[in-house]
Amino acid sequence: MKTLIKNGRIVTAVDDYFADIFIDGETITTIGKKLDLPADKIIDANGKLVIPGGIDPHTHMDMPFGGTTSNDDFRTGTIAAAHGGTTTIIDFAIQPKGQSMLKALDVWHEKAQGKASIDYGFHMIVTDLTPSDHVPEMRRLMKDEGVLSCKLFMAYPGVLLVDDATIFRAMGIASEHGGLICMHAENGIVINEIIARALAEGKTAPKYHALTRPTKAEAEGVNRAIALAEMAGSPVYIVHLSCYDALKKVKEARDVGIPAFAETCPQYLFLDYSYYEKPGFEGAKYVMTPALREKWNQEELWTGLKMNDLQVVSTDHCPFCFKDQKELGINDFTKIPNGGPGVEDRMSLVFNGGVAQGRISLNRFVEITSTSAAKIFGLFPRKGTIAVGSDADIVIFDANKKRTISAKTHHMNVDYSCYEGMEVIGVTETVLSRGSVIIENGNYVGKPGHGKYIKRSNIQEALRPTVSASY
Ligand code: URP
Ligand code: ZN
Ligand code: ZN
Repeated sequence: MKTLIKNGRIVTAVDDYFADIFIDGETITTIGKKLDLPADKIIDANGKLVIPGGIDPHTHMDMPFGGTTSNDDFRTGTIAAAHGGTTTIIDFAIQPKGQSMLKALDVWHEKAQGKASIDYGFHMIVTDLTPSDHVPEMRRLMKDEGVLSCKLFMAYPGVLLVDDATIFRAMGIASEHGGLICMHAENGIVINEIIARALAEGKTAPKYHALTRPTKAEAEGVNRAIALAEMAGSPVYIVHLSCYDALKKVKEARDVGIPAFAETCPQYLFLDYSYYEKPGFEGAKYVMTPALREKWNQEELWTGLKMNDLQVVSTDHCPFCFKDQKELGINDFTKIPNGGPGVEDRMSLVFNGGVAQGRISLNRFVEITSTSAAKIFGLFPRKGTIAVGSDADIVIFDANKKRTISAKTHHMNVDYSCYEGMEVIGVTETVLSRGSVIIENGNYVGKPGHGKYIKRSNIQEALRPTVSASY
């Protein structure tokens, strides 16, 4: 199949020009002015932006969590992602405590196989790292299986939390194999103390989720993660950073050349603590970790994105229906499954809040929604840019069109939207995944099973030069 995209304005993290793109099979083979090459399909992108497909490096599809399972599987979740202009996700496989990571990876391959409409990679959530069994497995993940990043938790004691020795060990292994540790950085031990106190005082409403997770607990986790990474001689990537206190720690590290990287998510850029004060049990929709913060933090996060102290906007897409799933915690906020939906709306939200409202440039928009994640997670230049030889993962984006976000029209398999009624400018019109049109004029025309597993490699080649110390 040969496809020609004509008359578009091509924007990457560094370029901005008008040209045509010729795609042969899955790959971009020619870019130039007024291309006159025989094609099976011609797409007119006149008046539209032509940008690299979005990369969301933080999703939880079909994940058992909080006494239930996240409600998008790889079929529904990747169709929703495609509608929003995301063409690659990196999802999290979970090692059940004490069990095999390789088996966990098989389980996640099975969940995705034949269902995904867009390409995907996996991180591994490491819950146990015994030198005899699990260390060799982690090495195999990084050397042979293309799983170059592992997430470890300082939060959720008794479920996912690991101790500092485990984190330090994992960082050392990642460093040896060109991999990266992603940290859920929140002091879960202290948070649990605060939660116990709240429950003893009869404080069970959703807002206590936020009131028991102070920003200092996140900042302490970030600080510790960076210190451990420095001792291990490894870079570190902080996931779902939510507040200024935590951002300050990343900035301080980066200012002295420590390779600390971080993402934030739309929920921390657009929503705030007041959402927990909605009437009745409504606040449960926003129960996610870290919690939503006071509104003033949002502008600090935008500044972090602009100044490259934050490199990526991911979604942490982990959807639970309000009915039946969030309701598990109707009498106790600690029983509300943590997480929210977002994979479909990321590009629109960041474009609207970032470019349309004058906070970031178009190039920076592409960088934080696609290119940086490709570089940090070992997908670049196959993904994350528009260049000859890259996968033809392309979004034709109408920067002038408006839409209103609503659960009535979204494609995520969840009964509410965190952004219900919000009007945004910037709409995904057409999406190509490895040369195949999967969204055409806003309609899904793809095929579950088209999406392929992408083995990743060489993460630290891009990150290593700034590693400052090794112990
Ligand atoms: O609330 C959240 N973030 N749920 C998903 C799990 C995690 O910590 O990323
Ligand atoms: Zn997390
Ligand atoms: Zn997550």
